[in-house]
Amino acid sequence: MRERAESCRTLATLLAAGALSVAPLPAAGQEPGTPDRSDWGAPGLNRVALYPTPDLAPAGGTAFLRWDPSPFGVSVTRDGSQRYRLDLEIEGLPEPGSLGEYRTYVAWATTPIMDPVVRLGEVGNGTFAGLGPVAFDKFVILISAEPSADVERRTGRLALRGASPSTRILPDNHLMVPVTGTGESAALPMDHGAMDHAAMGHGPASDEPAWSHPPMLPETPMVPGLGHLRPEPLPFLPRATADEALPDAVPSQVVRLRDGQTLDLIAGRVRRTIHGRDYVMYGFNGQYPGPLIHVDQDSTIFVNFENHTSWPTAIHWHGLRLDNAFDGVPHLTQDPVPPGGRFEYRLFFPDAGLYWYHPHHREEVQQDLGLYGNMLVEAPPDTWYAPVHREEILMLDDLLIADDGGLFPFGTERATHSLMGRFGNLMLVNGEPEYALELDRGEVVRFFLTNVSNTRTFNLSFGEPGAHRVKVVGSDLSKFERETWVDSVALAPAERYIVEVRYETAGEHALENRVRPLEHTFGGYFSRVTRLGTVTVGDRDADPAGAPGYDELREHAPVVEDVARFRSHFDREPDYELLLTMDVTGLDPAIMQRMRADRVFFPAVEWADTMPMMNSVATPEEVRWIVREPATGREDMDIAWRFQIGDVVTIRIENDAAALHAMQHPFHIHGQRFLVLRRNGAPVTNHVFKDTVLIAAGETVDLLLEITNPGKWMAHCHIAEHLETGMRFVFEVDP
Ligand code: C2O
Ligand code: CU
Repeated sequence: MRERAESCRTLATLLAAGALSVAPLPAAGQEPGTPDRSDWGAPGLNRVALYPTPDLAPAGGTAFLRWDPSPFGVSVTRDGSQRYRLDLEIEGLPEPGSLGEYRTYVAWATTPIMDPVVRLGEVGNGTFAGLGPVAFDKFVILISAEPSADVERRTGRLALRGASPSTRILPDNHLMVPVTGTGESAALPMDHGAMDHAAMGHGPASDEPAWSHPPMLPETPMVPGLGHLRPEPLPFLPRATADEALPDAVPSQVVRLRDGQTLDLIAGRVRRTIHGRDYVMYGFNGQYPGPLIHVDQDSTIFVNFENHTSWPTAIHWHGLRLDNAFDGVPHLTQDPVPPGGRFEYRLFFPDAGLYWYHPHHREEVQQDLGLYGNMLVEAPPDTWYAPVHREEILMLDDLLIADDGGLFPFGTERATHSLMGRFGNLMLVNGEPEYALELDRGEVVRFFLTNVSNTRTFNLSFGEPGAHRVKVVGSDLSKFERETWVDSVALAPAERYIVEVRYETAGEHALENRVRPLEHTFGGYFSRVTRLGTVTVGDRDADPAGAPGYDELREHAPVVEDVARFRSHFDREPDYELLLTMDVTGLDPAIMQRMRADRVFFPAVEWADTMPMMNSVATPEEVRWIVREPATGREDMDIAWRFQIGDVVTIRIENDAAALHAMQHPFHIHGQRFLVLRRNGAPVTNHVFKDTVLIAAGETVDLLLEITNPGKWMAHCHIAEHLETGMRFVFEVDP
């Protein structure tokens, strides 16, 4: 808090003294003097105008904030700071010698309080690519004339300077003052939603779920004028009558199925005990998560699904290139399975790796209440993975617990939390709040990670730096071309990553989510560290022969060859372009006021719900997240793409920085696989086949989609609430 206030004041002082210029607001237009490079991302979030000191005009330039190459969609440090590479374009600088005893120019990045300073390298007029990385929340770029190229500190005179887009967000003083006439009322215990529900004769009001004030992070102040708002839909929670004996849910069990075998799968209510408190939730076969379906590559299995919930549903087998009729998308590939109904799925597993299944109808309710499970697909000779001491499945989730200890309700007729999606405040690993694992020293664990939360992007770390090593091996539909060492794993909803971790030292190692969300009212970033579990390493040494070659980073030749088949398409112009944007109508005026103010800057990723009140009351009636095809003007289900088997399609997707609210979207394509070719123009150099790509706010990604599977396939944002508002389209592949 103190630190934040201080750095803001320092920035303000610098601004007042004319030491810095801040780029203008990221309105639709260009910043002055910057070349139009729309393919490098939207103006406003990815570029910094570099302004000259007064006597050096008309010198100037632009710094482009680029994705720092990483196995993940978003590049962050272990602590969650956004990490960028910078490309600098500079023109009009005079001969350095004309300014004094100088021979060259050097670029630097530093924080608004000018400490610490990172040397970016020697520059001059022209283009300088890949400088950095820079991982400051807010930063300033300085270019100075220097006596030599290898000076360690900036001593020479300043020539150009610019401030990162994140410096535009400053404390919003007017939002801290109550709006006249709509000030906070301390006690509004009853909301009209709950009263309506009681009035409808659903039994005594005390048994009914009721809306309450949404839980808030301690770092996020309540915006005056919003505290009385409650979601409009009727509140829903699954319930059990007093005399009803619901089964106590049990942890997930492994089901090994061979070609042709059948699994009976029932979705229904279960009783869960979390931190000593009972909850009525959902489970597949009474388990949390649902059964781990372990199968062989190229095998076919059958699933007899039965719906014992009170919702229509359909089960989607995320990432499988299976027969379209069994893809589980209601109204597209099948009729919804009504309460009490059944459906037989035939699943085919063409790709080895890690997949998952979940409902595809009102999934923001059903999946969040526990309906999710993994599928582990084994490659024929089991040499697909390197030997390790053990394998662990981690399904990462979060659950929203209201202030009274019960679950925060869901909307009955339609979703709530339509702005940013429903973030939970209780982190779950495999449905448990405290994951625990015991190991011998030196053990290598292969973790199979799946993010099954509605909206949260995790930045998962495995313990103190130096006490362990983390190697990334694979993701959605394949291994990477090459393994890499990382400090943490950033994964968006529906993404999977396969990592191998060696624990080197005895003791307790915390499994943590470490992020730096942006708090808009005070205009600062804060650190949020949440413990998801503990890995306890004993004193006994593990057999080093259990994980031979762990120290080496392997290249996966079959993946390299598979990717090589597509290389001739990498530099093609995109066949299709899409814009991810949004529209809002009819939200409370105080929310609209707040949203317009927030438009000054959007972080690449919203790591936490820093505006739970406005988020929770937003429903698909007010908020519409949109996939737009600018070339045709078509949106969402009106987009009509048609392909043939064997097509290789290049698609550019831009996440609109100029939207009323811009945020990340994990974009998922059903039934096929794709490669991510570029992010904001920066080529991806270590490929992996994906079905879900994280697209940061203001980012542009280029995808290469391989068309192999006939049918009608959906593509959509995997934030469950964004899907509910209609952020989806369908493409058709002819047989
Ligand atoms: Cu995992 Cu269409 O979704
Ligand atoms: Cu989205």
